[in-house]
Order: sequence, then C-alpha cells, then structure tokens
Amino acid sequence: MAPQPPPRGERSRETRAHGKRGRDGSDNSSVRLNAYLARAGVASRRKADELIKAGRVTVNGEPGRLNTFVDRRDRVELDGRPLARQPLTYVLLHKPAGVVTTVSDPQGRDTVVELVAGLETRVVPVGRLDADTTGALLLTNDGELAHRLAHPRYEVEKVYVAEVEGEPGDAALRRLEQGIELDDGPTAPARARRLGPHHVELSIHEGRKHQVKRMLAEVGHPVTRLHRSAYAGLRLEGLEPGQWRELEPFEVERLLAR
Ligand code: URA
Repeated sequence: MAPQPPPRGERSRETRAHGKRGRDGSDNSSVRLNAYLARAGVASRRKADELIKAGRVTVNGEPGRLNTFVDRRDRVELDGRPLARQPLTYVLLHKPAGVVTTVSDPQGRDTVVELVAGLETRVVPVGRLDADTTGALLLTNDGELAHRLAHPRYEVEKVYVAEVEGEPGDAALRRLEQGIELDDGPTAPARARRLGPHHVELSIHEGRKHQVKRMLAEVGHPVTRLHRSAYAGLRLEGLEPGQWRELEPFEVERLLAR
C-alpha cells in the first residue's frame, strides 16, 4: 500500500503510466482507492469515497483513506469481502436515437449503459450525445483516460453530420469555420464542409451542451437530425445503431498516447 499520494510531478507521470502495460498486456500502475473500487464495479468514484469515509474499505487489513493508492498486489476488501480489480475496457457504441447518455435515467428512458449490458465490466460514457443524436460514443472504465479525453486541452476531434433546414451557403460555412458567438462565449474555429444541399459536416474539438445545434441555429440553419460519424479518430464502420464493439489494442494505444 502507498498511503500517501505521490508528489505532484510523480502524480502526472503516474497518470501517464496508467496507459503503460506490462509485456503481457497487464495494467500494472497504482491507482487511487476510489478509482480501484469503481473499476471493481462496486460504485462510482463519488460513492466509493463515501464507502471509504464510512470505514467500510480496508487495504491490506488497514482502513483505506481517500488518499490511499493501491496496485494489484494490495488486498482490498469491502465490508470484509475481497475485491478484484476489473480489466480496463474500452467500447465504441453506435448510439441510436431515443437513448440517453447517462448511467441511469430518473425518467426511466433507455440508457447507453444498458445497451452494453453484456459487458462484464462497468463502463460509463465519455462525454455526452443528446437523446436524439446518433453515432459514435466511447464508453470505458478507465477514468483517467475519460477525464483526459473530455478535457478541451486534449482537443479530441468530433465529427458531426447535420441535416439542417434551408441550404447553407459559403457565408454560413465561413462563419462556422471562424467560430460562432454563443450565449456561453465564442466557439473555437471549426471545420465545415457541405455534403449536400441540406447536409453539413462539422468537425469540432469542444464539447459544450447542444453545441452543434446551437452553432447551426446561429447561422440560420437549425438542425433536423444529428449524427456523430467519428470520435477521436474512431469511426463506426460495421456497427449498426445499437451495436458496439470493444476497441482493438492498437486503438486503445492510440487514445492513451494522446
Ligand atoms: N452537439 C449537439 O448539439 N448535440 C449533440 O448531441 C452533440 C453535439
């Protein structure tokens, strides 16, 4: 057990080491206790913190603390029951329309997590698509990577195909490319291309709420349908709406190398 978090410099190295795999492909880095509990499928990190604070988690027989780091040699128990860490899992889902991007929905609508219920690990979506948006959605139990991908600093490219009202002309496309003033501030420049009279492809790096719909509405072409064709270079080839697949090792390595 490493009861103290490493110094800051070490920590960031450790975060990167999260992607390091042993020669046998095993993941051998240490992680914060709440992340370990989340990966073991026990609870979300926030709920895991509550379990730790309540004294229900022990590490090698000692009470776990919020700043405890563990690796695979440590014996972690919840209420006296030993826990096994689950393997890191990365899933690409072709999200269908009418499904919400949350872990559970108070209104009882279908969730993306239910669509991948066949998985043995507990994964959560990275970012969010509106209920009526279809397309590429990544789900994982790798919290560090999910956090990185969702952060604007890492400039993950998201490619959308929007069906819109009216026929966007060159002026509208230029405005999209320059960045649009929205009520929560200007957007970064996008790449915009006309695919047909009512279809625009928009590539952005940000992930603000309803961003694509708001950008297109602002240039006078409200969205009637929205599809994300690519996320961080991952495309949906071969996946019908509702279908998913685990990423290939080379795809995971590419994401971790960002
Ligand atoms: N932008 C939107 O407006 N909706 C989405 O679902 C994704 C991006």
